[in-house]
Amino acid sequence: MLLSRVSKLLSPVLSRSNHTITLFPGDGIGPQISESVKEIFSAAEVPVEWEEHEVYPILEKNGKTRIPQPAIDSIFKNKIGLKGPMRTAIGKGHVSLNLTIRRTFGLYANVRPAKTVPGVSTPYSAEGVDCIIVRENTEGEYSGIEHTVVPGVVQSVKLITREASRNVAEYAFKYAVDNGRSNVVALHKANIMRMSDGLFLEECRNVAENYPQIKYREMYLDSACLKIVKDPSQFDVMVMPNLYGDIFSDLTAGLIGGLGLAPSGNMGKEGIAIYEAVHGTADDLTATNKGNPTALLMSGLMMLRHLELKSHADKIEKAVLETLKERKFVTGDIGGTATNPQYTAEICRKIRASS
Ligand code: NAI
Repeated sequence: MLLSRVSKLLSPVLSRSNHTITLFPGDGIGPQISESVKEIFSAAEVPVEWEEHEVYPILEKNGKTRIPQPAIDSIFKNKIGLKGPMRTAIGKGHVSLNLTIRRTFGLYANVRPAKTVPGVSTPYSAEGVDCIIVRENTEGEYSGIEHTVVPGVVQSVKLITREASRNVAEYAFKYAVDNGRSNVVALHKANIMRMSDGLFLEECRNVAENYPQIKYREMYLDSACLKIVKDPSQFDVMVMPNLYGDIFSDLTAGLIGGLGLAPSGNMGKEGIAIYEAVHGTADDLTATNKGNPTALLMSGLMMLRHLELKSHADKIEKAVLETLKERKFVTGDIGGTATNPQYTAEICRKIRASS
């Protein structure tokens, strides 16, 4: 009784206390959309401080890639980060920075919600889309194991482990329970990749046994692509290996109006979480600052809810959804003409007006 009174008295104080968030602005439109998130959080008086670090690849003598030590230390200290998109050189040089970051911090699951946004018209607006992709984040075809067998013949290894499969399956089922969802479907191609996708499915089934309250199904990836564009309402939480999740989440982003609206969170062991948009550096939009910051902002709102700053997240979300619905200051990817700073300014104005 006394304890609950004390905690009630303390809760406003606790929610005002500062969290330090590591920020990797990234490349292309990354710094511009990161700036928008900072401005909007500041307008909403979110109690956070930013610790900003530039991230670039450092190639070590043993051929491995790493990121600068201050960036690594910052994430291990703060346990929470927001990350802009990072460019990957095609076909040569270092291992992708994104892959390096996932490996460095053990970010084993990538959660990618796709939810209809009011005011953004798509063929699915009427029924609405509301599904969650949980993507394995560390291995599969993205293990980066490739070599030349003989000149003109190269081989790429798809690595699937019991441990990583179990971890991501466990995350998907727990996510379903924690978020009041009732279905998990595993997407796979175990008809062709019997051993690798077969092992992935085996672990999904094992984990499913511990969650009798969740309905578990399995579906071929190609069949899921067809079904989801015909009727997205059949889908709830979906769990899948790395490459499938990367591709399938662009498809689900398309169902809600595009990459400018698709957020994500990378979840690691030991409580580390790094949030980022699904999209890449959008280099075609950097010079004009016309990139849509909504995806990174929504990722930031997932981060605030993770930090139990729900009221701040709700306040910002309300202003974002109103701005999108009014359509006066929206960016080109969703049919408007506004620049990122104009859209950002309108959200900040609405937040301040509501305070
Ligand atoms: P991209 O996502 O950068 O762009 C694809 C298309 O979507 C472009 O037409 C772009 O203008 C549009 N788009 C993307 N984000 C947008 C936004 N916020 N607002 C409005 N339009 C947006 O994908 P692309 O061109 O394949 O990749 C560019 C670079 O980004 C590559 O080096 C790639 O490796 C990297 N990348 C990085 C990711 C990350 O850091 N998580 C994820 C995906 C790609």
